Amino acid sequence: MTTSFKEHWENVYANKTPSEVSWTQEVPKTSLELILNNSTDKSLNIIDVGGGDSLLVDFLLAEGYTNITVLDISSLAIIRAQKRLGDLSNNVTWIVCDINDFKPKHKYDIWHDRAAFHFLTEENQIENYVSLVNEFVEKQLILSTFSTNGPLKCSGLNITQYSSEKMDELFKENFQMKECIFEDHITPFNTVQNFIFCNFEKRNNP
Ligand SMILES: C[S@@+](CC[C@H](N)C(=O)[O-])C[C@H]1O[C@@H](n2cnc3c(N)ncnc32)[C@H](O)[C@@H]1O
Repeated sequence: MTTSFKEHWENVYANKTPSEVSWTQEVPKTSLELILNNSTDKSLNIIDVGGGDSLLVDFLLAEGYTNITVLDISSLAIIRAQKRLGDLSNNVTWIVCDINDFKPKHKYDIWHDRAAFHFLTEENQIENYVSLVNEFVEKQLILSTFSTNGPLKCSGLNITQYSSEKMDELFKENFQMKECIFEDHITPFNTVQNFIFCNFEKRNNP
């Protein structure tokens, strides 16, 4: 029997510590800067898609943001983040859901995704993600994936690499690309992974 994606991720969070997975960041600096530099209103509704047990939510709470949602396919990832935050976790909305099945109940001002979108490798999944973003993102879209100079796999799974042109092509109908940052991420085991961070602003539709 093949392992489902959900099982894969539950296994990762059951068996590996943050220092044993490649994507861990002590400070999610670029994500934070892209949010802080563009969105000073602390009541904006922010979702971190595939947030896992990233510290982004901790830093956003510390900055005073009051309306944060973290979504992940793995319940163990979410439980880990909740335990780490303790009582502060009550100030966050947590959603355990496969992004392919996500049916948002409302819109989000800011949609952030670092290294979850790139796991979508089938055209219909990518189209579905683009439709979700088109319908449910009001202001800012921050997408970070492995770049075309990055690895072809993440956590042992195939991924889709992105260039700025490929990102723009997917989202340009509804989003204006403001900047694309390429970043070498140094993994906890001292290897290098090249990421792209694309920052988009929602176009004002007539
Ligand atoms: C490489 S990790 C990145 C975690 C976090 N964003 C970060 O930057 O530290 C990918 C995360 O996406 C989640 N994920 C993978 N596929 C997903 C899906 N289809 N729906 C929701 N989350 C997913 C995984 O459970 C994992 O937490």
